[in-house]
Amino acid sequence: MKVIAWTKYGAPEVLELKEFEKPSPKKDEVLIKIHASSVTAGDCRLRSFNIPMGFWLPTRLMFGLTKPRRPVPGMDMSGEIESIGKDVKLFKEGDKVFGTTGMRLGANAEYTCLSENAALVKKPDNMSHEQAVAIIFGGLTAIHFLRDKANVQRDQKVLINGASGSVGTSSIQLAKYFGSEVTGVCSTANIGLVKSLGAKEVIDYTKEDFTKNKQTYDVILDAVGNLSLPQCKKSLTKQGLLISINTSLLNNLLSIFRKNVICGVAGESKEGLDFLRERAESGDIEAVIDRVYPLEHTAKAHRYVDMGHKKGNVVIFVKHKET
Ligand SMILES: NC(=O)c1ccc[n+]([C@@H]2O[C@H](COP(=O)([O-])OP(=O)(O)OC[C@H]3O[C@@H](n4cnc5c(N)ncnc54)[C@H](OP(=O)(O)O)[C@@H]3O)[C@@H](O)[C@H]2O)c1
Repeated sequence: MKVIAWTKYGAPEVLELKEFEKPSPKKDEVLIKIHASSVTAGDCRLRSFNIPMGFWLPTRLMFGLTKPRRPVPGMDMSGEIESIGKDVKLFKEGDKVFGTTGMRLGANAEYTCLSENAALVKKPDNMSHEQAVAIIFGGLTAIHFLRDKANVQRDQKVLINGASGSVGTSSIQLAKYFGSEVTGVCSTANIGLVKSLGAKEVIDYTKEDFTKNKQTYDVILDAVGNLSLPQCKKSLTKQGLLISINTSLLNNLLSIFRKNVICGVAGESKEGLDFLRERAESGDIEAVIDRVYPLEHTAKAHRYVDMGHKKGNVVIFVKHKET
């Protein structure tokens, strides 16, 4: 099978197209024929090892101290079950699924095996594989921070900084679904996109600094990493929360002592994916796709994501021989 392989951390050139042996599922695993995977800001951080201070050593221990422990990168994917291990109960051959390999990586490939208990569920019926994979990264992050950590409620005012990226576009849509009034912060070119996803107000960061406009918000989600609590204090209500997902050391330290700063890392779960599928099938969220690259051009996709200006998501399309 074709895979993208890497043997060291570094620039996108470390990613090479290779032939690996097709895996076979263990007794509790399913073999997934991948139709689409993605390149996220998280994948690029891992590849280049541009990891925030304080997380460097734990992340190296997790993914490989001197070189990547897992030979194939990529986390999120959408595809179909080709075969199942003898103990598998949750899936059958032919099921269309989407999910994430998480720390096991391996999604930038034609096939991967995952435990039936991994973050893998039925794909939304109304979405293509490319669309389904595009709602995972930002969607699971928005669920973790907005729903599970901040408990965003109806009529709260929520500001999303970095509203046009993967996390931003999902956060706008889910914050709106939770009934809040959303303000998006983005550049001039993305105002239309951010409005179309449900933001009531849009602030163009090239023209206005929202921290100086005297408006207050119940929740500020910073997906850019250029905000600190002292900077946002005047923009938060008395009980207001700053969610800092692109975590700086200062915000991390503050989050230990202050209840109004939330940091950390979003996880993955079947429940989160089921929630995203339900939202997609009900029309509450849509996939935002900037570019689609074939598997062979995954390094090119990394180069584009590295620039830091993608709109929503970058998807990798896997063309199998017989399709
Ligand atoms: N803690 C966690 O669990 C977690 C989970 C997911 C992601 N993350 C991190 O969160 C960050 C965002 O992820 P992502 O996937 O959303 O990234 P992304 O898709 O690459 O987002 C980039 C977006 O940021 C916008 N942007 C850049 N500078 C800005 C500014 N000064 N003000 C407002 N918007 C600005 C860009 O818009 P323009 O082109 O208009 O500038 C672009 O649309 C990444 O660093 C990622 O590693 C953390």
